[in-house]
Amino acid sequence: MSDLNHIDLKAIPEHIAIIMDGNGRWAKSQGQDRIFGHTKGVDAVRETLRAAADLKVKFLTLYAFSTENWNRPKEEVEGLMNLLVMSLANELEELNENGVRLQAIGNIKGLPKECQESLEEAIIQTRNNTSITLVLALNYSSKWEIEEMVKSIAKQIKKDSISLDEIDENLISEELTTKEIPDPELLIRTSGEHRVSNFLLWQIAYTEFYFLDIFWPEFGKKQLIEAIYDYQNRERRFGLVSEQLKGA
Ligand code: IPE
Ligand code: IPE
Ligand code: MG
Repeated sequence: MSDLNHIDLKAIPEHIAIIMDGNGRWAKSQGQDRIFGHTKGVDAVRETLRAAADLKVKFLTLYAFSTENWNRPKEEVEGLMNLLVMSLANELEELNENGVRLQAIGNIKGLPKECQESLEEAIIQTRNNTSITLVLALNYSSKWEIEEMVKSIAKQIKKDSISLDEIDENLISEELTTKEIPDPELLIRTSGEHRVSNFLLWQIAYTEFYFLDIFWPEFGKKQLIEAIYDYQNRERRFGLVSEQLKGA
């Protein structure tokens, strides 16, 4: 019931965010090491990005590495950083062919130099593309982002460049790393975990959540369409009652 013929192509979410989880457990189920799972995870990213672009999703945000992920074993962290550098180099041509603009959110300055350089290069080389924006959350945590926002606003107050009354929802959103990105309408998490893991806490205030049990390397076009189908069959009430939305 959730093939392309059943979703409304005129009501596709503008922004979908994904917590790509389960690479390690998927690898284990195949008798492989965790890095093998992450490598397969990149294939799932490629397929999902293509499908999202075809459906005319405008922003796809992928949680690729959290601030907490630094605490994993050293080999895994190094493997992930190498995979990032290699994937950016390998995928750049396809990103450009498909009109993908790359952006990154998170504490980018805290990434190894090589990662920062590859990211910067890919961001510059894709900056004029207009089909879809792929936002990679790297060394990202929402509490870090909120801390930075509070510091920045406090500095502006201290310098008297803004007054207390000027602090509102809009100013706060402007001070987050997502300032140029609309809030996601849909958040997907794979692997059967039902948590947010320090991702986009402010931005998901009214987001619809979609959890599925499969591991990230098993995710692709079919599952993306199913998630959108599910999303399209919900009523987003934003605090109102159903009758108000139906204009009764
Ligand atoms: C998600 O898969 C990728 C990252 C967090 C980098 P995991 O590596 O968390 O895989 P599981 O959850 O341990 O199976
Ligand atoms: C969340 O996955 C972070 C990413 C997908 C990058 P984790 O696997 O790190 O989350 P927890 O630790 O299970 O909450
Ligand atoms: Mg995990």
